[in-house]
Amino acid sequence: MNVIWLSDPHFTHEGDVLGHDPRVRLRAAIDHINAHHTDARFCVISGDMVNRGAEDDYTALHTQLDRLSIPFLPMVGNHDNRALLRQFLPLPDTCMSRFVQYHVSTPEGLIVCLDTQKEGSDGGEFCRERRAWLTDVLEKAEGVPVYLFMHHPPHSLGLPMQDTGKMEEGAAFLDLVSKYECVKYMFIGHVHRPITGTVRGVPFATMRSVLYQAPAPRPDWDWESFSPGQEAPNLGVLTISGTSVTLQYEQFCSYQRGVRDQ
Ligand SMILES: [Fe+2]
Repeated sequence: MNVIWLSDPHFTHEGDVLGHDPRVRLRAAIDHINAHHTDARFCVISGDMVNRGAEDDYTALHTQLDRLSIPFLPMVGNHDNRALLRQFLPLPDTCMSRFVQYHVSTPEGLIVCLDTQKEGSDGGEFCRERRAWLTDVLEKAEGVPVYLFMHHPPHSLGLPMQDTGKMEEGAAFLDLVSKYECVKYMFIGHVHRPITGTVRGVPFATMRSVLYQAPAPRPDWDWESFSPGQEAPNLGVLTISGTSVTLQYEQFCSYQRGVRDQ
């Protein structure tokens, strides 16, 4: 089973974001998927669907995502407006009533998309209500492999500026997920960089943004010196088969192609 993974499109219906046009970048990603990945089961988009959380952005985003030849699963990030996302983007029936948190059954296991948004903050949280929902899902998984998608990382990744925006009480989250052998992988957005590793024995991967990339942590940088976009965007192609998981980071356009006037 193949699953396409996009992250952080920061879509706007007009204008640009840090010198890049999110419409151009997302269109390139969709064209690439429609040309090469029509066999994928769906496309997960791990948050920051829009850049400012406005109604016009969600409606225009939905129109653009409707061009996808495969279904898409939207997720909430710190830039999103949870209520507008729920109103304007389609969500599975399993979705919690107050959050953008749901699961999808597949022949290769359960895809679980978590809501790590803390309203009014760039950092994340995973409150008692969401944790109870996840606990219930993991208890009932009974040996079915579980793949977790989330926006905020629960732990530090060696990125000095983004690490401050990780999930609050991430240790409690990791206490929970590392207890369950059915949790096979965590796929994380938010940081706009590709990183892989393990935490508490659980493998994880992060993803480049559809729009602009965060620089590597060396040489040191801060938000003052931040100059995004020197690297081209990627999408992820996940192949899940039995006990094996492969993630291909795949470039779908050049760095230049994302600039405003094209
Ligand atoms: Fe983002």
